[in-house]
Amino acid sequence: MTIRALHVASELYPLLKTGGLADVAGALPPALIERGADVRALLPGFPAVLAGLTDLHPVAQLGRRFDTPGVTVERGTLPSNGLVVYVIRAESLYNRPGNPYLNDEHVPYGDNAQRFALLGWVAAQLAQQLDPAWSAQIVHAHDWHAGLAPAYLKAAERQHGRPVARSVFTVHNLAYQGVFPAHQFGQLGLPDDFFNISGIEFYGQLSFLKAGLFYSDRITTVSPTYAREIQTLSQGGGLDGLLRHRSHDLSGILNGVDYAVWNPTDDALLDTHYSATRLAGKSACKEALQKRFGLAQKSDALLFGVVSRLTEQKGLDLLLGGVPEIIRHGGQLVVFGTGDPALENGLKRVAQSHPESVAVELGFDETLAHTIVAGSDVIAVPSRFEPCGLTQLYALAYGSLPLVHCVGGLADTVADASLENLADDLATGFVFERFEPKGLAAAIRRAFALYDRRTEWKATQRRAMRQDFGWGASAERYLALYRELI
Ligand code: ADP
Ligand code: GLC
Repeated sequence: MTIRALHVASELYPLLKTGGLADVAGALPPALIERGADVRALLPGFPAVLAGLTDLHPVAQLGRRFDTPGVTVERGTLPSNGLVVYVIRAESLYNRPGNPYLNDEHVPYGDNAQRFALLGWVAAQLAQQLDPAWSAQIVHAHDWHAGLAPAYLKAAERQHGRPVARSVFTVHNLAYQGVFPAHQFGQLGLPDDFFNISGIEFYGQLSFLKAGLFYSDRITTVSPTYAREIQTLSQGGGLDGLLRHRSHDLSGILNGVDYAVWNPTDDALLDTHYSATRLAGKSACKEALQKRFGLAQKSDALLFGVVSRLTEQKGLDLLLGGVPEIIRHGGQLVVFGTGDPALENGLKRVAQSHPESVAVELGFDETLAHTIVAGSDVIAVPSRFEPCGLTQLYALAYGSLPLVHCVGGLADTVADASLENLADDLATGFVFERFEPKGLAAAIRRAFALYDRRTEWKATQRRAMRQDFGWGASAERYLALYRELI
């Protein structure tokens, strides 16, 4: 039997992306389809989403919903792979260019509760014949933006007296909880008793993330280690109790890499290509990167790269403290990202003090991200916490050894270049245990020490590049979960 699953998310690569969620929403549906499932996606009709789809045509006119007139649901196609995508057209809620969550002042939009409640509500309707031609058996909701979908499904189940569709809720980041004032509950159209500690209520407010965790039939998160971490008091963001209570329904399924997009042998965004057996092209990528960022053109300077959202999570404040260690050993650092203005300014200041060896650029650009991942010797991901992390997986594929904090998905995917791991042919990068300057500095020194032994460095690069983090195994696990549910 073919399983019909609807993936509900707020971003999807290549239509719209602010982080790894888009990469997953873009790559997992095709991986499931390849394995025989009938998968479609639902997105809010942000300008970039509507512009990127072809064959858009109306499926349902919903009229006034969540205080918004003229809401329609349309169905279109993603040209790159033919994925069928439903979009919600609601001019006053979604027709805003730029960041889908924040205004120009980096403040969440005041009407985010309505904007994302509508997303969850339409998802539940797509399991109830909203499109007469297709109806979801599984609604797979991603992060708080889609967190109300399982709640609306449970409400419909109560109304009809039978299950409507089964739901899976995937936590990509427990730190974003979609919390809104309690008085907004009335606008959601959910049964009154859903505003409850056993429900959507969260310390006197309401949380879309908690709704997803509470009302979904299964919960997944994006790495096995993060699945354990979020059940602890220190890393559970106030939801550890609920997560422990539901631990039998909770599993960690590692994200994958879309090697059609991230592959140094034929990366469409690179001028020079290379592979594990022909590494020469990587030197050309490094040279190009040093040139692009105005760094000294030294082929043997160990080059550290960072491509990241600039938020507290990513631990770049710790990395800044490690800059003297990098410079002392003759290394270089390139940072590219966007986010928190205070972090942006701090990074800029460090670059100004070391123009030959540190370069910082602010912005979001897919080509530059690939340029840095390919041209760096080391990709640093010193995150305080990291649900999965994709950057270190891309770094492995490009032979750019990841330097990571031992948390979440970083702990599950990178093996430290310790003597014993090197001896056993296991090392793929540099891992520090404690989020402290000393641990980071030691990992940086390990990177320089290995770089001094060029043969071992190359062997480690090749091993990193041979790791298989393709979507296959993870897609199989999601499918197994769907099968269990229906
Ligand atoms: P997160 O989702 O927490 O941001 P991930 O490592 O899972 O972390 O995914 C980050 C994704 O966003 C990667 O695809 C990375 O290349 C991309 N990315 C981050 N910052 C930028 C940027 N400034 N420009 C382009 N891509 C970026
Ligand atoms: C989140 C997490 C990141 C994860 C991504 C995709 O943004 O911060 O660790 O890789 O989602 O699941």
